[in-house]
Amino acid sequence: MMFNQELIDQIRAAFPRAVTDFNGRKRAFFDNGTATLVVDKAAEAEAEARINCSANVGAIFDESKQAEVVIQEGREAVADFLNAPSPSTIVSGESATSLFFNLSYAIGKELSGSENVVTTDYEHYTNISPWVELEERGRIQQIRYAKLNMEEGTLDMKHLQEIIDSNTKVVTVTSASNMLGTKTPLEEIGKMAKEVGAYFIVDAVHHIAHGQTDVQALDCDFLVFSGYKLFSSHGSYLYGKKEHLDALKPFKVKPSTNDPPGKFEWGTRNQAMFAAIKGVIEHFHWISGEVQTNYEGKYTEYDENKRSLKIAMDAIEKYEMEFSRAILAGFDDIPGLLDMPKVKVYGLTDLKRLSERDPTFSFEVANVPEDVIVARLWKEGGIAARAGNYYSYAQDVYNKPNINRISLVHYNTLEEVKIFLQALKSIANS
Ligand SMILES: Cc1ncc(COP(=O)(O)O)c(C=O)c1O
Repeated sequence: MMFNQELIDQIRAAFPRAVTDFNGRKRAFFDNGTATLVVDKAAEAEAEARINCSANVGAIFDESKQAEVVIQEGREAVADFLNAPSPSTIVSGESATSLFFNLSYAIGKELSGSENVVTTDYEHYTNISPWVELEERGRIQQIRYAKLNMEEGTLDMKHLQEIIDSNTKVVTVTSASNMLGTKTPLEEIGKMAKEVGAYFIVDAVHHIAHGQTDVQALDCDFLVFSGYKLFSSHGSYLYGKKEHLDALKPFKVKPSTNDPPGKFEWGTRNQAMFAAIKGVIEHFHWISGEVQTNYEGKYTEYDENKRSLKIAMDAIEKYEMEFSRAILAGFDDIPGLLDMPKVKVYGLTDLKRLSERDPTFSFEVANVPEDVIVARLWKEGGIAARAGNYYSYAQDVYNKPNINRISLVHYNTLEEVKIFLQALKSIANS
């Protein structure tokens, strides 16, 4: 494995709270689907920017000029990370939710009311409610939801194809379900959208920490992710194709610039969030340096920075796949009654299809209430997890408004997985 013990220890050392919480309590942090822990480089850069360039942009003194530098460097880092053609295609916002509303308002201005929007049954509501607002205002005729293959928690691609037609103006999908962990076949869906001339939009919030995200390879029109799901501060980023960012007319105040990305940005920027995200990208460059001997001759078509980030995210994805393997095998190992499994997983469980999922698992244990599982995992295993509603439409579809979920990232370890499984086994058997 590329992630040897030494590297894993170094990675954990780069996250001030990977091993213990602020009380010094050792615990395994498995609530990453809700928010990830911050990496040291991001926290330090954020604090420094807060202090050294808290002035507003556009003036001649140093703090102001430095604020501009920090913002530009943050955009460049995000552009490298997403393989975007230029930093000016990166719009910042308060959250993915605010960026989606901003985008839907702008697209809504272009519509006549006869169009439809196609999405899926496993979106986060961030990628549903903004389109519902348009529907309620008569800006679109209908929202169409691609069904799921309920048993395995994947998209019914045949149905998705069927609901796209010449009136489809937007095809908007998450890159992975934050309930099921399922990855979306984005390339295929992007092609379907292009065939009818619809915008292809990607909600990358859940998948962003788990593998590569390449806006040019996807040929998507827009893509959104959030810093707090990627080891950074709050604050989110939208990539948009230049021609769309130029053409769309977002809601804005009159004196602000008419050029992208600024015309989409509501109010004064938080320069510290740009410093933080650059810190995260530096963390990935560091990981890349540690594993790059495994990648000789690979990704050579990209410039140095982009290649380095591709390598880091590929190595992370491979490491995380071992979590999925161990967790699914471990669930299976907890004996059930007759042919009924004791632990029911919502999402792909096939060990041969690990590359189709992120290490995010919603599950239930027969006859044990969700809050008991959460409390006992915490008490007996030091596992930080939760049961809840993750604003996933899939939770409506499965009628599971409250469900246990764990989600792992690259600072977790197989040792932690082992402890989790031991604790879960004892909960299931008691
Ligand atoms: C897939 C997905 N999309 C969107 C969001 C919302 O992101 P934000 O809180 O930045 O609005 C989340 C948060 O959990 C998510 O998992």
